[in-house]
Amino acid sequence: MGRRVLREPGAGLVLPRDVGGPGRPRAAPGVPGVPGVPGVPGVPGVPGVPGVPGVPGVLSYDGVMTTGADSQRDHWSRTFATRPDFLGAEPSVVGDAALARFHAAGTRELLELGPGQGRDTIEFAAAGLDVTALDFAEPGLAEIADKAARAGVAGSIRTVVADVRDPLPFGDGTFDACYAHMLLCMALTTDEVVRLTGEIRRVLRAGGLLVYTVRTTADAHFGAGVGHGDDRWEMGGFVVHFFDRALVERLAEGWDLLEVADHEEGKLPRRLFAVTMRRSSESVEEAG
Ligand SMILES: C[S@@+](CC[C@H](N)C(=O)[O-])C[C@H]1O[C@@H](n2cnc3c(N)ncnc32)[C@H](O)[C@@H]1O
Repeated sequence: MGRRVLREPGAGLVLPRDVGGPGRPRAAPGVPGVPGVPGVPGVPGVPGVPGVPGVPGVLSYDGVMTTGADSQRDHWSRTFATRPDFLGAEPSVVGDAALARFHAAGTRELLELGPGQGRDTIEFAAAGLDVTALDFAEPGLAEIADKAARAGVAGSIRTVVADVRDPLPFGDGTFDACYAHMLLCMALTTDEVVRLTGEIRRVLRAGGLLVYTVRTTADAHFGAGVGHGDDRWEMGGFVVHFFDRALVERLAEGWDLLEVADHEEGKLPRRLFAVTMRRSSESVEEAG
C-alpha cells in the first residue's frame, strides 16, 4: 500500500490518502480530506436512516437508538461481545504510523484510551511497548487479554476498566505517550473532551506524545441520524462527536501541535483528523 506524508515530512504521521482497498469507495479529489481544508462542509448526511441496512459504512449493530454515555457503554459492550473484530482484525494504518512515531521518540510506556478489541494494542505490545489499555467496555478488554495471551504478550498489556469522563486513574507523569484512535470523538461533550485532554497531559511525562484520531465535520454521518447537540450525532445506536478544526486547535492549548493529518478509514469512509501533539516541558498548569 502506498503511503504519503500529508504534512511536515519527517515530523508527522505517515498516512495513505485512502485505505478503502480494492473495490471500496475512494475519496474524490478536491473534497474534504484535502490537507489544510479540513472540516469543509458539503458531504450531505443521511438524515433519518440510523441503522438502516444497506447504508454503506454505517456502524450499525442492531439499529437500537441509545442516548447517554452509560447506554453507550452498554451498546459498545454488547457489540464487542457479539461481533469479534468489529472494527477490523488487522492493525490500523493510524496505529502503524503512530508506532513508528513512538519508536522514534523512545516510548516505552504507552497509555491507550478506547482500545476496543485491541487491533492496535497487540501490535504495540508485540513491538516492545508496555501498554495500559483503558476502556469502559469490558468484553473488548477481555478479548484483548485473550489475544495478548495467544500472541505471547500478556505480560506487556494491562487492561483497565474505566470511563474517560472520570479522572484518569493514574499518577502524574506515568506514561511516555498516549494513543486514542476514535475515542475522543465518542459521546463526550466538548467540556468532557477538554477535561480529558487535560487529564492526558497530566499523566504524560514532559515531552510525551499524544496521537489521537477523531471523526470530522466532513464525515458523511455528520448531521445524520439523531442530534444530541454539541456536534454529536447518533447513527446505528452509536453517538459520535464530529470535530472541526477549531476544536482540534482548542485542545492543543498547552501542547505543541505537531500535525493534523486528514485520513480516511473503512468503507464509508470515516473521515478523520489524525492529530499528534507533544506535552511541552514548560506546560505545567493543568487543564480545567
Ligand atoms: C470507535 S471505538 C474505537 C476502538 C479502537 N480504538 C479501534 O480503533 O479499533 C471507541 C472505543 O471507545 C470506547 N469508549 C467510548 N466511550 C468511552 C468512555 N466514555 N470511556 C471509556 N471508553 C469509551 C468504546 O468502548 C470503544 O472501545
